[in-house]
Amino acid sequence: MTSERKDNHVALAMDQNRGVRGRNDFDDVELLHHALAGIDPATVSLGTTVGGVSWDVPFYINGMTGGSTSTGEINRTLAIAARETGIPMASGSMSIALKDPSQIPTFQVIREENPDGFVMANLGADHGVDNALRVIDLLQADALQIHVNAMQETVMPEGSRDFSAWPATIEAVVAAVPVPVVVKEVGFGLSRRTLDTLAGLGVTVADVSGRGGTNFARIENSRRAGGDYAYLEGWGQSTVSCLLDAPSGFPTLLASGGVRNPLDVLKALALGAKGVGVAGTFLALAVDGGVDALVTEINRWKEHLTQLMATVGAPTVSALAGTDLLVRGSVREFCELRGID
Ligand code: FNR
Repeated sequence: MTSERKDNHVALAMDQNRGVRGRNDFDDVELLHHALAGIDPATVSLGTTVGGVSWDVPFYINGMTGGSTSTGEINRTLAIAARETGIPMASGSMSIALKDPSQIPTFQVIREENPDGFVMANLGADHGVDNALRVIDLLQADALQIHVNAMQETVMPEGSRDFSAWPATIEAVVAAVPVPVVVKEVGFGLSRRTLDTLAGLGVTVADVSGRGGTNFARIENSRRAGGDYAYLEGWGQSTVSCLLDAPSGFPTLLASGGVRNPLDVLKALALGAKGVGVAGTFLALAVDGGVDALVTEINRWKEHLTQLMATVGAPTVSALAGTDLLVRGSVREFCELRGID
C-alpha cells in the first residue's frame, strides 16, 4: 500500500511537471537590468555555504522518492546525475524503509551510486532521535532533511492528523544528530512565524519550499475517492513570498517550490536563499529522459547560472543578495499586507 503511494506520487507529480510549466510568482520578480554591470564569467564562483558545509553548486535535487522498486530506479538515475554534475541530493522520506526493511536498498542506491557526493536523508517531523540516527546511518548522510507537511497529511487519505508533537521532536533531533538539519515544507511554504519558531528550536537551516510548483494538495486530493479537498489547492505561500517574508536574522535559508529554470535559481538567490532545491522539474527529466537528459540539463543550468551572475555583476552567491529587483502583482500585494519594504 505504501509502496503504491510512492508510485502514485511520482505519476501524479509527473502530470504537473512535464512539458511547458505555467506562471508562478518567480515571474512577478524582475531583476533590474544594468547594461554596464557585467563581469568576466571566469571570475564567477557558484560556491555557497549551507549549514557550515561548502557546496560547489548552489542548487540541488530535493527530497522526492524511494520506497518501491520503480522509485528505487528513479533514485538511481537522480544519484548518477548528482554524481556526474557534482550537485547535492536528498532522498525521499525514509519512513517506509524504517517500517519495511526490504525497501532500504531503494534508498541506499543513492549512496552507492554517489559515494563521495553530498547526500541528505529525509524523514517527517514525527520521527524521534533513534529513527533520525538510523536513516543518517543507512545513507551515510551528510545532512538530514525533516519535512513539515501538515497540509499534505491533512489531505492525504491515510495521513497523520495530530501535529502537536512536531516542535519538541524537531528540537530533540536537532540537538542529537551529528549532521546539519534542514527543516523543509513540501510546497506550502514556511512563514515568518514558523521560521522564528524553528530558530527557537535550534534550527539553523530551513528550505521554505513554497507554492508555485508541485502541488501536494492536488496530488493527495486526486488520490481521494471523492476529491473533496479541491478547495485547498491554492493553500500556502509562494516561494518568492516566503523569501521576502523571512526574518532577516535567520542563519541559512534555502528555497524550493516551482523552480523551473536557471533564472528562477538566480532570483531565489537574489532574494536571499543560499541554495535552491529542485524537485518536479528534475524528476520529469529523469523519468522521461534518463541520466543523459538530466545531466545535460543540470550542466546547462550551471553554465547559464554562471553567465547570468556575470551579466548582473555578481561574482558570488552572497553578492547576488545586493541585486536590484522589483516585485509586481500578487507578490507586491503580499508585501504590502505583511508590511515588507
Ligand atoms: C516530493 N517532496 C518531498 N519532500 C520531502 O521532504 N519528502 C518527501 O518524501 C517528498 N516526496 C516527494 C515526492 C515527489 C514525487 C515530489 C515531486 C516531491 C517535495 C519536494 O521536496 C518539494 O518540497 C516540492 O515538490 C516543491 O518543489 P518543486 O517540485 O516545485 O520543485
